[in-house]
Amino acid sequence: MYTPSPDRYSTEVMQFNRCGRSGVLLPKVSLGFWHNFGSVDPYERSREITRYAFDHGITHFDLANNYGPVYGSAEETMGRLMDDTFRPLRDELFISTKAGYDMWPGPYGNWGSRKYLMASLDQSLKRMHLDYVDLFYSHRYDPETPLDETLQALVDIVRAGKALYVGISRWPLQALQVADEYLRARDVPLLIYQGRLNLLDREPQEQGILDYCATHGIGFISFSPLAQGLLTDRYLQGVPADSRMARGKFLKPENLTPELVEKIRSYNATAATRGETLAEMALAWILHQKGVTSVLVGASSTAQLQKNLQCIHAKPFTTPL
Ligand SMILES: NC(=O)c1ccc[n+]([C@@H]2O[C@H](COP(=O)([O-])OP(=O)(O)OC[C@H]3O[C@@H](n4cnc5c(N)ncnc54)[C@H](OP(=O)(O)O)[C@@H]3O)[C@@H](O)[C@H]2O)c1
Repeated sequence: MYTPSPDRYSTEVMQFNRCGRSGVLLPKVSLGFWHNFGSVDPYERSREITRYAFDHGITHFDLANNYGPVYGSAEETMGRLMDDTFRPLRDELFISTKAGYDMWPGPYGNWGSRKYLMASLDQSLKRMHLDYVDLFYSHRYDPETPLDETLQALVDIVRAGKALYVGISRWPLQALQVADEYLRARDVPLLIYQGRLNLLDREPQEQGILDYCATHGIGFISFSPLAQGLLTDRYLQGVPADSRMARGKFLKPENLTPELVEKIRSYNATAATRGETLAEMALAWILHQKGVTSVLVGASSTAQLQKNLQCIHAKPFTTPL
């Protein structure tokens, strides 16, 4: 039996930002299920992390059809969590999922067709033991499928009551503009854009995506805000055996060049002068960029999450990083 902390909505614990020009408030820190919530991970630890998150005002959990490993298993973990923890709290949660990457064999299990998106969301809802998600994303831009087809599928998913809002992730600026106009014209405004923005990767700023979102009332959520752990103390002294880099699939040891280590150490020194950890400063920096709604962190322990949550109290930046 789980009783959530009564302090979870105190502003000392969590603060919320309005998501673009919508009615939705999202916590400044959201939790992603890409890693650490699959069938290869201990369920008890996944449950401990999510309960800790919810106790600290993290109302937004972000999933995708292919999160695991194995594919689909992070959503199955969410389904178990609904059953043993969160069912009575469903209306306090904002749950997202996505489709866009290879999910099942053959031509209908990938990219952006109506056929794929519709079938994938139905599968996701079954795995998560949910009737609807709060937010459904096109996970990536598909240069082959007409944008109208992908976008109309998003509209129809909302009209069918399977998602309350829609978002897009990693779409180029021009396609973002098409999506914004198409969806707005059909009264299903684009709620949010999910992109990678962190101290080491500023593409959404450089490409004008953040500006577009801020100007057009679309929220922006930053994924991999810690660059998968690079912007923490994790790799300052080599590669720990239990780290994502040691697993080597998405973060590879060969990418940890001397120049990168130098850069991370320099950010770490700056964080120390601010009286903060590197992770805290890295997250705070994102939250201080104009147009950012939330940072979407991953965590392999409650201790990491606890440290990361300190970012909501960070002081402003007087000099640009
Ligand atoms: N839309 C997309 O295409 C896309 C792509 C990627 C991610 N996402 C979303 O973004 C979410 C977050 O991505 P991410 O996991 O890459 O985020 P991240 O926050 O940049 O990295 C999380 C990892 O960093 C390490 N870490 C976190 N806090 C730490 C701390 N305080 N001290 C030391 N190490 C720490 C942990 O790795 P260890 O395992 O080494 O402990 C943790 O698993 C995903 O779950 C997913 O929801 C979306």
